[in-house]
Amino acid sequence: MLSQQDLKQQAADAALALIEPMLTAQAVIGVGTGSTADLFIDGLAKYRGKFRGAVASSERSAKRLAGHGIAVLDLNEVETMPVYVDGADEINSQLHMIKGGGGALTREKIVASVAKQFVCIADESKLVDSLGRFPLPIEVLPIAREAVSRVARALGGQPVLREGFITDNGNQILDIHGLTITDAPELEKKLNNVPGVVTNGLFALSPADTALLATQQGVRRLG
Ligand code: 5RP
Repeated sequence: MLSQQDLKQQAADAALALIEPMLTAQAVIGVGTGSTADLFIDGLAKYRGKFRGAVASSERSAKRLAGHGIAVLDLNEVETMPVYVDGADEINSQLHMIKGGGGALTREKIVASVAKQFVCIADESKLVDSLGRFPLPIEVLPIAREAVSRVARALGGQPVLREGFITDNGNQILDIHGLTITDAPELEKKLNNVPGVVTNGLFALSPADTALLATQQGVRRLG
């Protein structure tokens, strides 16, 4: 029986095999945040020198990449990337995701938007029939915390402030529990329109292109 850690490693390895042909002297790789992304970063180290560098979606991932001697580029210096690789907190069969368990959702969405494709890596426990059991993270400007909380309650959710946590952008995170998400793209749009919301953790308007989900029987590819 493979442990969850083994499964995460398998997903990360599958992503490395997938992106290997994309590694050229000019290629910049978009890199996500979290324990599965960490394994991907560690594996990427063996290709150091075979690609230009990486754009990180968090200070944490930037530090890990730099620790391996991989050049970390500012997104403003990069016009395009062949691929962005990241984990997810939940993913459904349409490849809509909830992300932001690690609090890096804003930079994740921005970096992913510049990449040609999003490859999601996860163990099979992240695959769900319907999104919402994992509390939906929303990054908010501190001044808007209560206003956004009221909107979340009106949508049927219970907002909980992530205590003691400040994002890389200096903002706060509300985790919205108990949402029934029937139309993820619509909810993502609605939340994007609430003043004070920096980013919500639904990645449905631009879902993953490919998911590599590690199971006890091997890596399952969706998309
Ligand atoms: C961070 C994220 C992560 O991708 C998500 O939390 C999954 O993390 P892990 O690979 O540790 O399960 O969205 O903001």
